[in-house]
Amino acid sequence: MSTPLHPTADAASRLFGGHFGAEPEGTWSAPGRVNLIGEHTDYNDGFVLPFAIQHRTHVALGLQVAERRSIRVVSTFDAGAVEVPLDELDDLFPSRRDEIVEWARYPLGVAWALLHAAGRDTASVTGVDLAFAADVPVGAGLSSSAAIEGATATALDEVWNLDLDPVTLAQVGRRAENEAVGAPTGIMDQMASMLGRTDAATFLDCRSLEANVIDLGFAAAGLELVVIDTGVKHSHATGGYGERRSACERGAAIMGVPALRDVSIDDLARAAELMDDVTFRRVRHVVTENQRVLDTVRTVREQGPTAIGDLLVASHASMRDDFEISVPELDTAVEAALAAGAVGARMTGGGFGGAAIALVRRADVEKVTDAVNAAFAASGFSAPTIFTVTPSAGAHRDA
Ligand code: GLA
Repeated sequence: MSTPLHPTADAASRLFGGHFGAEPEGTWSAPGRVNLIGEHTDYNDGFVLPFAIQHRTHVALGLQVAERRSIRVVSTFDAGAVEVPLDELDDLFPSRRDEIVEWARYPLGVAWALLHAAGRDTASVTGVDLAFAADVPVGAGLSSSAAIEGATATALDEVWNLDLDPVTLAQVGRRAENEAVGAPTGIMDQMASMLGRTDAATFLDCRSLEANVIDLGFAAAGLELVVIDTGVKHSHATGGYGERRSACERGAAIMGVPALRDVSIDDLARAAELMDDVTFRRVRHVVTENQRVLDTVRTVREQGPTAIGDLLVASHASMRDDFEISVPELDTAVEAALAAGAVGARMTGGGFGGAAIALVRRADVEKVTDAVNAAFAASGFSAPTIFTVTPSAGAHRDA
């Protein structure tokens, strides 16, 4: 092989060899993402502006001997190896999913959803072995789950000759997450992971699934995107995420529209009269956040990325006060970064923990990092993990 493998791809290959005692057929990978702006808008048929990051999940895959007819999965991030006969996938998902250790529901759920999307019977495909390794931080709000889904879907699509397009593969990942894992999430993370481009974000209309590449120009503007992982773990399969989603559905029903995408800023005065205060504030977040995504896209194009800072800050305030999905660690990260000179900052992802992002002039990165670390120490929070990310390529075959 002419190009050396990425260290994580190499780790997946080595795990494959150690566990299955053979050489893999190849390795595939998909990235995590950060969301620049557009939070909790995806399942409201709205707009989002995420980008894929350089952290990826790699999968080494091999075809089984014909008579084995199962899927075996193993990973460096969880001790539990799992084997499921291909013919049992339909019995397992979704009703018996709890019998599978949680991390394995992602790749096995993808296999299940993929065959359905392709209209293929399990009898028509060969059994496969998959070994995963990842450098996407788990539980940090950087979509480690979409990275597993994207890598699995891309690999299986190829070796099973399904020939599905990237948007369909993103939908497969979302179905796996919703039905095989049980997290009622939207389509943003999977689309960002499948469609990522170097130096660009994906501007996605979550109703039509039309995606446009938006050049960010961070490097040319001397900007870095700093991630502050608070270390506060969250799960979207339980609690707050689903409650917010229900509040949005309730709000849309009261307004008599299919989704909050159809409510405009001008409708908000009427919404305030029709619904209770909590539901109204959930609605106001989504409606104003959709507008902020559109404004961010326009501002990047017309004035460059340094001009989007206020929109990021307004997005954070809306999530903190109206949608109420921030936590003290995220607020502290955002406030300390801004006080130290960040152009803009906000929490990213589903909330209740995870990471914040700060858009920072290159010369200020160290100052911002030190300020955030100091603020966490002063508040008695565990030290955050701080690193920069670059907009990177989406899912693909590595070797
Ligand atoms: C999680 C979900 C996404 C999206 C975000 C919030 O990352 O997976 O679908 O809803 O939260 O914007």
